Amino acid sequence: MVIEDVDGSLYKPLRAGFYRAKIDTDIVQFQILDWDSAFFGMTIAEILPNRLATRELEQVIAHMKNAGVKLAYWASAPDDEESQRAARACHGFLADKKTTFVMELGPGNPPARSSGWLVEEYTDAVPNNELESLAVEAGIYSRFRMDSRISEEKFVELYKLWILNSTNRRMADAVLVVRRGGRIVGMVTVKDENGAGDIGLIAADAGMRGNKLGFSLVHAAQEWARKKGLKRAQVVTQGENIAACKLYEKCGYRAAKTENFYHFWIP
Ligand SMILES: CC(C)(COP(=O)(O)OP(=O)(O)OC[C@H]1O[C@@H](n2cnc3c(N)ncnc32)[C@H](O)[C@@H]1OP(=O)(O)O)[C@@H](O)C(=O)NCCC(=O)NCCS
Repeated sequence: MVIEDVDGSLYKPLRAGFYRAKIDTDIVQFQILDWDSAFFGMTIAEILPNRLATRELEQVIAHMKNAGVKLAYWASAPDDEESQRAARACHGFLADKKTTFVMELGPGNPPARSSGWLVEEYTDAVPNNELESLAVEAGIYSRFRMDSRISEEKFVELYKLWILNSTNRRMADAVLVVRRGGRIVGMVTVKDENGAGDIGLIAADAGMRGNKLGFSLVHAAQEWARKKGLKRAQVVTQGENIAACKLYEKCGYRAAKTENFYHFWIP
């Protein structure tokens, strides 16, 4: 199975089934996610509006239930109290405070300092074991790991698939690595996402953290984007991932968007 594309959270579905549920005078939408449904073996949908009152959310969930949806994602507006109340009332699990960091790559915004680690491109089409382990590490705060109803096995499979689809260049334009004693101890995947140098996965070996590997990897990702002529850089992470958030802030990014990402398990 192949992940075809990456959006802010993880990926876009291969085919989209849009559903419209009439609620009073408003139209509230949800969308079946074909790729997610096939991967996790159950019908998964995303709720499209980012603001809903409790009654509206209850009705969308009822419509999704009729459509056989077992798991629904909702990227809700964190500053909308009514939506947050609705999510809690409908037993949503707050799986991710999804945070998008952005920065301009102009001359007034110098790249992060590299800290001296040699970062090189990984050119094999398939990842080795070290790269796979780092990819799984990159997902430690992922909502697919935070949600205990998703098995560890499925989470690991997802991140191994992500790095495979990065080394084979389906989801990334380059995979950059740091080696020490012949072993890969750090990696970052990058792609041109609509004109922005986008970091997909990034991780430093657990035994090597705090040694400025993160700085060197982000610096390399920014340099990669600059060389491509890109004017912006971006990365999405989880608000709970303090180390990653601090790293991006220190490297010149600023948090531009946050979303409270809920999971609803529909009995
Ligand atoms: C995030 C990560 C890549 C940072 O790598 P690292 O090599 O340890 O980071 P560095 O040594 O280069 O640190 C750079 C800056 O990041 C921040 N930082 C790193 N680790 C931190 C921690 N545990 N707590 C708070 N801030 C931290 C600091 O601001 C640090 O700057 P400073 O040393 O001047 O204070 C690493 O923690 C990691 O691999 N985490 C697991 C995977 C992951 O969460 N990936 C992110 C997915 S979006």
